[in-house]
Amino acid sequence: MVTSPQNALEVRGLVKRYGRRTALRGVDVTLSPGELVGLLGPNGAGKSTLVKTVCGLVRKTSGDVSVFGLPAGTRRARSAIGYLAETFRYPAWCTAEELLSLHQRLAGSDGAAGERSALLERVGLPDASRLRVEEMSKGMQQRLGLAQALVGGPRLLLLDEPTSALDPVGRRLVRDVLADLRADGVTVLLNSHLLSEVELVCDRVVIIRTGEVVTEGAPHDLARPRGVRVETDRGTRVLEGIGRDDVPDLITRLVADGERIYGVTPLQSTLEEVYLEAVAGDTS
Ligand SMILES: Nc1ncnc2c1ncn2[C@@H]1O[C@H](COP(=O)(O)OP(=O)(O)OP(=O)(O)O)[C@@H](O)[C@H]1O
Ligand SMILES: [Mg+2]
Repeated sequence: MVTSPQNALEVRGLVKRYGRRTALRGVDVTLSPGELVGLLGPNGAGKSTLVKTVCGLVRKTSGDVSVFGLPAGTRRARSAIGYLAETFRYPAWCTAEELLSLHQRLAGSDGAAGERSALLERVGLPDASRLRVEEMSKGMQQRLGLAQALVGGPRLLLLDEPTSALDPVGRRLVRDVLADLRADGVTVLLNSHLLSEVELVCDRVVIIRTGEVVTEGAPHDLARPRGVRVETDRGTRVLEGIGRDDVPDLITRLVADGERIYGVTPLQSTLEEVYLEAVAGDTS
């Protein structure tokens, strides 16, 4: 296979069968360095299987997967990756400090205590270093999981539903962390069901359905015009079939008709509408 070290992640024709069940049916996905990509799809679509294959936790049936040009699952490919699993479970007796130390050793990070406290601070757990996992709430454990994924400064971060246990403040915090990572040039693949969140942070989304990519693109490119909302002294109404370019003529016409205009807003379909259309008929 020809892989390019210029790509942070390259997935070509990836097939994964678990016995008779086919989870991925020839998936192609490419992430350029520094890109923040949302991987969307219904339950059972194959999102976690894809991410686990990139980590080397699941063995592919066929196809090619490489991380910065290195075959996925190899030691060198893994050393570039940070991973937060969807079903994160850390040993109950372990303190936050111990868990991060362990992962520093596994990742070969020499960040020592400074890295550990900076990461706990970054995920909003500044006072948790001596807390044991069993003493933490689920959301705190997920925050710890994010800190764990960031140990050693990975170049490719794979986050499988990183905000599933978080409150609104925690979700906002993760968005801020992602913005910082993007500024640092880290590549991120984000699995999520929270479409509004994905729309806010991702450069691009890939939607998969029953193991196949059905749609991909930047959220604003996928969104289509949905008409224009007009607010005048005669009330508020939505005029369908009219795009942004038609707005000046529309205003001229309304004024000529004697309407007093308070607002004209072009409407776009949301990522949720794009998603629902892409996965329509899904039965998984
Ligand atoms: N270890 C396994 N053994 C057998 N089948 C599996 C295994 N893991 C996943 N599957 C199957 O593979 C398919 C894809 O599962 P996967 O967990 O990748 O979906 P997902 O998109 O992450 O879903 P969710 O949104 O629910 O997390 C499903 O049909 C699932 O039942
Ligand atoms: Mg999953």
